[in-house]
Amino acid sequence: MVIATGLKQQVQIGSTQLLINNKWVESVSGKRFETINPATGEVICDLAEAEARDVDRAVEAARKAFTTGDWRQMSATRRGELLYKLADLIEQNQEELARIETLDNGKPLNESLNVDLPLVVSIYRYYAGWADKIQGKTIPVNGSYFCYTRHEPVGVVGMIIPWNFPLVLQAVKMAPALATGNTLILKPAEQTPLSALRIGELILEAGFPPGVVNILPGYGPTVGGAIANHLDIDKVTFTGSVEVGRQILSAAANSNLKRVTYHLSGKSPNIVFADADLEQAIEGAHLALFFNQGQVCTAGSRLFVEEKCYDEFVAKSVARAKQRRVGDPFDPKTEQGPQIDKTQFDKIRHYIRSGVDGGAKLLCGGERVGDRGYFIQPTVFADVQNQMEIAQEEIFGPVMSIIKFRDLDDVIKQANATPYGLASAVWTKDIAKMHAIASGIRAGTVWVNCYGVLDPAAPAGGFKQSGVGRELGEYGLQQYTEIKTVTVKL
Ligand code: NAI
Ligand code: MG
Repeated sequence: MVIATGLKQQVQIGSTQLLINNKWVESVSGKRFETINPATGEVICDLAEAEARDVDRAVEAARKAFTTGDWRQMSATRRGELLYKLADLIEQNQEELARIETLDNGKPLNESLNVDLPLVVSIYRYYAGWADKIQGKTIPVNGSYFCYTRHEPVGVVGMIIPWNFPLVLQAVKMAPALATGNTLILKPAEQTPLSALRIGELILEAGFPPGVVNILPGYGPTVGGAIANHLDIDKVTFTGSVEVGRQILSAAANSNLKRVTYHLSGKSPNIVFADADLEQAIEGAHLALFFNQGQVCTAGSRLFVEEKCYDEFVAKSVARAKQRRVGDPFDPKTEQGPQIDKTQFDKIRHYIRSGVDGGAKLLCGGERVGDRGYFIQPTVFADVQNQMEIAQEEIFGPVMSIIKFRDLDDVIKQANATPYGLASAVWTKDIAKMHAIASGIRAGTVWVNCYGVLDPAAPAGGFKQSGVGRELGEYGLQQYTEIKTVTVKL
């Protein structure tokens, strides 16, 4: 199917069915749902809508693939080869995948193509290399015994992902799960199901055996809920809101105590000292917040600026935000596209009102752009207090909140005064301050004189309510293996 976006771009859509046991099928109910282009609010196409009975079918296929057959027997080296093949296919089709992502999500094509796609390819290649390097230990126990450990796959894994980085997040979860020999059911977000289905086609082309990868688009409470509650799913990995994270954890507790790892929201402090290279810090802080329309779990959404450079920093940050080019995501000059949907658009506008009502100083933006789609002006608030709603709750939009601080102790205390602990950053030339922040902030990541740097080899995840477990890197593998101890009497 070829879809004209109305933006002088054509996007090729592949299958719109469910992928179960290497076959494209309709849902048991026959229901279909629509996915929307957030730049226009128009329907892109409809697709098969999975529900609980489809989860049952997919779990049956995934369990069979895990227990018997080619995948179970396959050498670790061959598993790695399949992942390399998938990476190659994604690379060969990157233009098409990037267009699908931009159409369905609204992120600028420039970023889909030059940020998201290369990251996806590199994540698959990174974990392809791990496939035949997963090994246990020999352990010197007391007595006449030989003791060793095996790192075995967990089993059937359910993956529930959000809409902000659909392609990147499927890779972050699928690549390590497949490298370690699990089988899986992926539920993409209902807002952005299209790129996952295209990946499904490439999974078939790469030659993965039936049942290893199953893809079920649909809604959270139905498909997502069925995955979280399923008695024959061994593990769920989730990225999204704290609220849904809690529901999944309690579903796991009340069903089969499946393993749950989750990666949730953040309210990450980005700390600028007056001794920093201010031009770099201003541009870094701009991207830390506005990248991907502000829809990033690690967004630098509490920008702490030392009082000595505060006025200059605020003035220049406002000037930069005013220059930000908002518009057609297919235009190569566009820096900011639409928010994902009406719900998020309304939520962000609520927070902008809350900032004004709460006494923060609105220095630019605050309004909708145009009269269709879900575009919001780059918005900057100064004189924000850390206890205000806009400094405590995740806005997930293009709204910068600048907070003034006095000194090192003051900023560490304020930076930690949040239920979240996902990421943080510090801009300074003073190594003592840098190390004090790196050890003082309770968060899974600290960036120094940079922001948002992500690499397949470097672990990411949250302290406190931002999550449990790490993704990416060698640590990311641990989420997908069980350790078995074997003790042999000699
Ligand atoms: P969400 O947490 O509702 O959705 C994420 C995924 O969970 C989607 O695939 C959704 O279908 C699924 N889901 C929803 N309800 C479920 C349930 N009861 N059981 C199982 N799966 C379920 O996030 P939403 O509503 O799209 O966004 C709300 C807020 O969450 C955002 O404003 C943002 O603050 C935060 N968020 C954080 C993300 C992150 O990267 N950490 C990503 C997306 C949202
Ligand atoms: Mg939701």
